[in-house]
Amino acid sequence: MKKVIKKILVIILFVFLVIQFFQPALNTDDGRVYTTDFTHTYKTPAEISTMLKASCYDCHSNNTNYVWYDYVQPGRWLVEKHIRQAKNELNFNEWGNYSARKQERLLHSMAEQVETGQMPLRSYTLLHKNAVLSKDQIEVLTKWLKEQP
Ligand code: HEC
Repeated sequence: MKKVIKKILVIILFVFLVIQFFQPALNTDDGRVYTTDFTHTYKTPAEISTMLKASCYDCHSNNTNYVWYDYVQPGRWLVEKHIRQAKNELNFNEWGNYSARKQERLLHSMAEQVETGQMPLRSYTLLHKNAVLSKDQIEVLTKWLKEQP
């Protein structure tokens, strides 16, 4: 019995090591500046930009600030899947290219997601503490989002 468990552990370790070699492309743009960026369109106050960049941009932009454990598989696949889905819904770098209708809908949705604590995703803030928004920050950000035309 002990032998079987040992064998299984060795196989799991082997699979873990092998999947480390499968690394999807990084979400990075080498520091490009976007004239269509959300913070550019709204001339966001520094306080708001800081919050969005710390708590949202890792998934909702073309540039993710990865930390070392983001590279560890199988988590890495999940990270990239979240980024892909997030950018599909909302890419802060592309804001200026969205129609007025879409911007309005997204502003609404952003305020709601932040206010109800659905964004940033809990699975992400568990490991990325710097992205956690305090109660006060949530209030300030939600209020600001609701004030935008
Ligand atoms: C860990 C990655 C991650 C972070 C960080 C993150 N999001 Fe998201 N976001 C997603 C994913 C994935 C989706 C699409 C699936 C979903 O709705 O759950 C999404 C969807 C959204 C949507 C569209 C929701 C809808 O259905 O209309 C909005 C708006 C949004 N996020 C806003 C934000 C804001 C604002 C922040 C920062 C306060 C943020 N997100 C941070 C991953 C993230």
